[in-house]
Amino acid sequence: MRVLPGGVLGGYYAPQEMAFIVRDARGARLRDHSEREYVDYVLGSGPLVLGHAHPAVVAAVEAQLRKGTTYFQLSEPTLALAEEICRAVPCAEQVRFCSTGTEATFLALRLCRAWRKRDKILKFEGGFHGTHDYSLMSVGPRAPKAFPAPTPDSAGIPHAITDDVLIAPFNDLAETEAIIETHHRDLGAVIMEPFQRLIGPAPGFLEGVRGITQRRGVPLVFDEIVTGFRFAYGGAQEYYRVVPDVVALGKVVGGGFPLAAVGGRREIMAQMAPALDGTPEFVAQAGTLNGNPISAAAGLATLAELRRPGAYAQLFEAGARVKDGLARAAARAGLPAQVAGVAPVFEIFFTDQPIIDYRSTLSADREAHAVFTRHLLGRGVVKAAQKFYVSLAHGEREIDETLEAFAGALAAVAERQTPRPGPSS
Ligand SMILES: Cc1ncc(COP(=O)(O)O)c(C=O)c1O
Repeated sequence: MRVLPGGVLGGYYAPQEMAFIVRDARGARLRDHSEREYVDYVLGSGPLVLGHAHPAVVAAVEAQLRKGTTYFQLSEPTLALAEEICRAVPCAEQVRFCSTGTEATFLALRLCRAWRKRDKILKFEGGFHGTHDYSLMSVGPRAPKAFPAPTPDSAGIPHAITDDVLIAPFNDLAETEAIIETHHRDLGAVIMEPFQRLIGPAPGFLEGVRGITQRRGVPLVFDEIVTGFRFAYGGAQEYYRVVPDVVALGKVVGGGFPLAAVGGRREIMAQMAPALDGTPEFVAQAGTLNGNPISAAAGLATLAELRRPGAYAQLFEAGARVKDGLARAAARAGLPAQVAGVAPVFEIFFTDQPIIDYRSTLSADREAHAVFTRHLLGRGVVKAAQKFYVSLAHGEREIDETLEAFAGALAAVAERQTPRPGPSS
């Protein structure tokens, strides 16, 4: 608390009375400073789809460490990773590396605005694309405005940016199409998470957004920082069979090290070629650790594991056991609840309303959810405030322990929700 604002890093943190410091982690387990063990569903906020300290990743990183840690120029692992991304991800004809997902979506938007020669962007309410100024708009508005007006999620965002961001409702194709029809002449890009936070696209929604952006010539960006190499080897664009113009990748592709990437159609990506430097068409992008060879080695080792036959089946089976187990446990506890998401990424909402967009998440009982998360932690299961990530390292034992913890934590929620009998008169 003395040296860090609020005693946190700006990522996951436990409630203050249960705060801990990580000592080490392996597989699906995390150990804290007092040797307490947790089954980990934070997974470093998602990169660790193989679990912590996977032997293949550790070996690849150790080997690369001995060859140098960073070069600020093209290296073998980085080129190999670029080739692998272009092989795997349908829209990626070329890639450019950066270090974080935030940088990737920021660059994707700049590339599209330059290509289209328009300034405005459209994003969806509740969609998260990192923490730059264009992204922190209507991610979590407490009092949502009428579409397409944005609400900044942070202090310090220049007023001028709000004039360049339009907000549309996820999974409402008619309203989204109407906004795009009205504003397409000013739009440089539409950016979306194809699977938004925990909400899958309604049938036809992605296809509809792809259709209108194509008709109106507005580049479509998929933020696949969560879904890339997780929903399928080719990401959500393979899983849902809708191909955008540009993709932002992060998390899994860096194997737990700082690496992210933008991929896309060759003519959009070509705006970054040095031959254009000094012309008005040049899109500038650089970074000290861009395509860092250690991160690339970790990413390549992770992707090699994911290419093993059966890897995705195993990931989805393990996730389904936890996700379906959670839904069953909530029903047994008599709690109104929705478990939203897909097997490797999901969350429980304490509401009887279906979770179809950001506004429907507001119907959920947030306090009940906080009680649930806190009681899970007390039972040795750690998850982020709003998400479970499952990895290939979550085996029978971890899952059984988790299901047991669910029963206890949900009983605590149910108890809290049962009105206590009043004093007898
Ligand atoms: C969908 C999405 N986009 C962008 C980001 C930002 O990535 P980073 O935290 O690497 O900046 C995140 C991070 O969780 C994310 O979930």
